[in-house]
Amino acid sequence: MVKAPLTQMAVTVFEYNREKPARGLCVVRQAEVPPVLAGHVLVNVLWRPINPSDIMCLQGIYQGFRPTKLPAVPGLEGMGVIAAVGEGVSGWKEGTRVTAAPWTYAEQGYGTWQEYTQVRAEHLVAVPAEVGDHQAAQFLVNPMTAYGFLEDLQVPADEWLLHNGASSVLGRELLCMARRRGTKLINVVRRHEAVDELKALGADEVICSTDEPVAQKGGALYLYSLMGGEVVEVPGSDVLFRAVVLHGWWLNVWLASLSPQQLRAALQPLYTVGTRTQAVMGMLADGTVRPPPPRKVYHLDEAGAAVEDAQQKSAGGMGKVMLSS
Ligand SMILES: NC(=O)c1ccc[n+]([C@@H]2O[C@H](COP(=O)([O-])OP(=O)(O)OC[C@H]3O[C@@H](n4cnc5c(N)ncnc54)[C@H](OP(=O)(O)O)[C@@H]3O)[C@@H](O)[C@H]2O)c1
Repeated sequence: MVKAPLTQMAVTVFEYNREKPARGLCVVRQAEVPPVLAGHVLVNVLWRPINPSDIMCLQGIYQGFRPTKLPAVPGLEGMGVIAAVGEGVSGWKEGTRVTAAPWTYAEQGYGTWQEYTQVRAEHLVAVPAEVGDHQAAQFLVNPMTAYGFLEDLQVPADEWLLHNGASSVLGRELLCMARRRGTKLINVVRRHEAVDELKALGADEVICSTDEPVAQKGGALYLYSLMGGEVVEVPGSDVLFRAVVLHGWWLNVWLASLSPQQLRAALQPLYTVGTRTQAVMGMLADGTVRPPPPRKVYHLDEAGAAVEDAQQKSAGGMGKVMLSS
């Protein structure tokens, strides 16, 4: 049984700053553990990955982190165990391994980079025994994005989805889900070694953009990342003569577009062994999608060093730097 203490360790940001090194923006301090609210559970967070979006939160450029006041606690995803169950909540009990979609108050500045955080009961997702802690902690940001993107696009059977950034963690998860759905996918990577890495994951088509040109036809272009920089240039001649259309795709917008029933179907929290499903937790449980083990683990009180490490360039698909409690 987990017992919530009165105070906890929390990583807080007192300012957003794109000029300062992000490590200097993380201040570890003691904070109160709030009493559990009605309709909520208090989660004792055990693991959190550091994603590119977390770094953007520290820099103040991520639209999914909009605290009304500072200091605020970052952290958009993670996993933990239920420490307390609020009034009116049924079906959940203390000690259950959980993650959430979304972490209810992360956007408002009560994220997962603290030991305890409140989650609305309807946002909880049970973690099946087949899914390890590190994998469960990476449930929301990348696997849900890969799933949502494929659901949203509904790529027709006679068309191809061409994906650059294919060697990233997100790219590899998209590949595994696309194979499961039968979506035809061309994977574009920059490093030669990544060609074999993706083929080992079952990729049929991999192009190394260092060796050959990628796109010569028109099509719809979906921008889902700012890894290439905040300014995106699309040649006017491509728009005019090749009918290239530019869209943006963001997990938060897609999640907000779902009814509660559609969201439940996507999450499938009540996974039963042996069930074939395309829902996200089911695909983690049956091994279709395997978020990688951590590249390095830091304790929460070393958040600054962990952030600095996460910002170092590493080859695509390497595991995340993770924060433990
Ligand atoms: N829109 C959304 O809702 C959403 C949701 C989740 C993630 N994302 C974004 O998706 C991206 C990948 O996330 P992740 O967690 O998978 O990151 P990751 O595992 O850290 O992947 C980074 C890898 O992507 C490759 N890469 C970096 N810059 C690139 C560029 N300009 N062009 C092509 N490839 C590049 C590099 O691989 P190589 O060294 O092998 O080339 C790099 O190692 C991030 O930008 C993240 O913010 C967006």
